[in-house]
Amino acid sequence: MGEHLRIVPYSASDRDAMIDVVQRVYQEYGFTWEADGYHRDLYTVEDYYLRGGGMFWIALDADRVVGCVGVTLHGTECELHRLYLLPEYRGRRLGRRLLETAMDHGRQSGINRMIAWSDVKLPDAHKLYLKLGFTQQGQRICDDPDKALEYGFWKEPL
Ligand SMILES: CC(C)(COP(=O)(O)OP(=O)(O)OC[C@H]1O[C@@H](n2cnc3c(N)ncnc32)[C@H](O)[C@@H]1OP(=O)(O)O)[C@@H](O)C(=O)NCCC(=O)NCCS
Repeated sequence: MGEHLRIVPYSASDRDAMIDVVQRVYQEYGFTWEADGYHRDLYTVEDYYLRGGGMFWIALDADRVVGCVGVTLHGTECELHRLYLLPEYRGRRLGRRLLETAMDHGRQSGINRMIAWSDVKLPDAHKLYLKLGFTQQGQRICDDPDKALEYGFWKEPL
């Protein structure tokens, strides 16, 4: 693996493998899965992401889905979602590439500001955001089944 790592736009045929990746990360952290609620976007990528001008990508090792990221557009702002990699694919700049891909989509859509909300239990993601020029600001209780505490990360200009 390594030379075969690539990022491609999501296709419906990737759905089950992509969901499996995110579920594995949820199990790793002990977070609760809610297919018909908080995780509904992953089952309806076309509606939740693509229809509104957003995008969703998957990371592949050869033909194996190993990660994902999504972005939604909201007027003058875009929001990052679902940045996840399988554990064995972390620390090799694939997360950075996924985030940069989402940022590029915001820029190409004429948007100059990105927000990412991230669980306080995910410090590696926070390091990545700060490294790519995000500023940490604000916190909220997420509307997920675990009522997670999240930090806000903002980047402007993108
Ligand atoms: C967060 C995540 C996507 C980052 O992807 P990654 O491929 O592991 O990160 P990268 O290799 O691209 O690292 C990019 C930068 O982030 C920082 N970073 C990433 N992991 C780090 C770690 N464990 N310790 C210190 N810094 C780290 C490094 O500064 C790195 O900079 P460099 O490229 O100059 O070395 C991945 O670790 C992951 O899936 N984690 C679990 C799920 C998660 O936290 N998702 C985010 C939800 S908001």
